[in-house]
Amino acid sequence: MQEIRVNTSAKKYPLKIRNGLFNKDDAYLVLKNRKAVIVSDSNVAPLYGKDLLEKLRNLGIDTDIYIIPAGEISKSHEELIKLYNYLSEINITRNDFIIALGGGVTGDLAGFAASTYLRGINLVQIPTSLLAMVDSSIGGKVAVNLTAGKNLVGSFYQPEEVLIDPMLLNTLPDRHFADGMAEVIKYGCIRDRELFFMLETLENREKVMENIEEVIFRCCTVKKDIVEQDEREKSLRMILNFGHTFGHAIEKCFEYKTYTHGEAVAMGMVFISDLSHKLGFCQKDVAERIKKLLQKFNLPADFPKLKTEDVFDAVIKDKKVRTNSVNLVLIENIGIVRIEAFSKERIGGLINEMLGN
Ligand code: GLY
Repeated sequence: MQEIRVNTSAKKYPLKIRNGLFNKDDAYLVLKNRKAVIVSDSNVAPLYGKDLLEKLRNLGIDTDIYIIPAGEISKSHEELIKLYNYLSEINITRNDFIIALGGGVTGDLAGFAASTYLRGINLVQIPTSLLAMVDSSIGGKVAVNLTAGKNLVGSFYQPEEVLIDPMLLNTLPDRHFADGMAEVIKYGCIRDRELFFMLETLENREKVMENIEEVIFRCCTVKKDIVEQDEREKSLRMILNFGHTFGHAIEKCFEYKTYTHGEAVAMGMVFISDLSHKLGFCQKDVAERIKKLLQKFNLPADFPKLKTEDVFDAVIKDKKVRTNSVNLVLIENIGIVRIEAFSKERIGGLINEMLGN
């Protein structure tokens, strides 16, 4: 088993990564003598929720399961209140645990409930999507959406443990696997060139799965290093947003319906790499290699047809834009990025030049 210890000022906790971990009794020692509630969604619960419930009960852990509807719709205040009410009905106390079993939506909703119910109860993350295994289950960001935007109400709340069993990915549909691959490739771009080179040699999903423990370990190591240095995203953590400023703009312009998060981030990474080249920060081949790698894993690379003003509007309304300038994560070489601030006027001009409309 690979174990990574995350040391933040708020909490120190392990990320455990191992094929088959989900079925191992000793993975759940942290729950001993506590009550637990599994929060899972209507897609994941039939696959893994019932098994986990049975396993924990067999281990003598007083466990319940709470199932939310699958999809982004569940990251709402309505679902959150229902979950709080359920926690109160079953008398969950501060010593007890929420187990978030699922992808990003489940982790965010269950995590935010854990961070706020009784001013904070224990949380274990068991991610079941690639995106959650390498990104959303680590680092403590938890949130729900508002009609005004995604993740607008949230907190930083670190779990007690993150249990990652890559074999759970065997049931993940191809499009969702590709979704997570965008974030995997991002880690190669921002910090781990060896990972990027390794991915260039792996032909497809099957080959990635042959090396999945190492791939996930490398991604989690990068994320841990960044989160330890800048848990609250004051500076360094922003590099995790490589490709995300324009990716979020694409998601927003298409009302979150057309592209998955990873697909939008893939297009955003190609856009920002091309822009980095245009501004003289990197060689052309850097942008080309990133595009080729994304396309190999069935991710879109070409920026969709959108008007400059719509993209500009989405970019400057991003919740991460706090002042009159926008921070962009530009790439210098594979594994090396830098943060640069641009005035809103300059951003508008650059988008116009890049999109040519
Ligand atoms: N997903 C980006 C972050 O955790 O900061």
